[in-house]
Amino acid sequence: MASKATRAVGVDIGGTGIKGALVDLERGALLSDRVKVATPAGAEPVDVLVAVRTVLETLGVSEAEVPLGVAFPAIVKHGRTLSAANVSDAWIGFEAERFFEDGLGREIHFANDADVAGVAELRYGAAADQDGLVILTTLGTGIGTAMLHNGTLIPNSELGHLQRAGHKKDAEAWAAYSAMERDELDWAEWSRRLQWYYSHLEFLLSPDLFIVGGGVSKHAQEFLPLLDLQTPIVPAVHRNNAGIIGAAALAVS
Ligand code: BGC
Repeated sequence: MASKATRAVGVDIGGTGIKGALVDLERGALLSDRVKVATPAGAEPVDVLVAVRTVLETLGVSEAEVPLGVAFPAIVKHGRTLSAANVSDAWIGFEAERFFEDGLGREIHFANDADVAGVAELRYGAAADQDGLVILTTLGTGIGTAMLHNGTLIPNSELGHLQRAGHKKDAEAWAAYSAMERDELDWAEWSRRLQWYYSHLEFLLSPDLFIVGGGVSKHAQEFLPLLDLQTPIVPAVHRNNAGIIGAAALAVS
């Protein structure tokens, strides 16, 4: 078959869950149910590999004929993971892409989770046709960011780790969705933290659009209207599936 694949599998590894699905690359839509398993405690490489294998087996796509993209919650450069905010430190400086390829017995495409969510929104969602600077943020266990300028991804932006003046903890420890759960905040209390975060990003980078992804984006109407920003801010069209769709899309680009 000479034509470019129109389907691929995307697996999105997060600090809390590992999700995967078969994706229609023409529409940017899921073709299968979404399979989710919990991220193993400690998120050690071998345990994460086993969990990814489980996701692929459950999807019935363990064979190599369907391209596979894998997204990971760390800096990813030349196939290596260079940070580990919500996973084991064993990933720092680790040949992760090769490790998954060896362990799964097939080729994969490998990238940062927020970056692939940005690619999904660029191709099939809220960032399509948007000029200037778009900043996608994923609010989950951590805060992931993707910077898109005139349709080009600037990878590994890591703006979830901005430091707050006078505080030991960084932005994601203060304002991620996990912080809302941990500190038992209501929407109004959490949105005051988000207000600080997005205002700070706005001041530093003067974006043209913010996109909010992550699982909590399905409740966007509870907190986005509480924010007072110069920059338009919208939920990700693909909500929490943006990572799966973007990982799949990158597998074929
Ligand atoms: C990591 C990022 C990741 C984000 C969302 C952060 O802690 O440093 O690489 O994109 O969490 O998972």
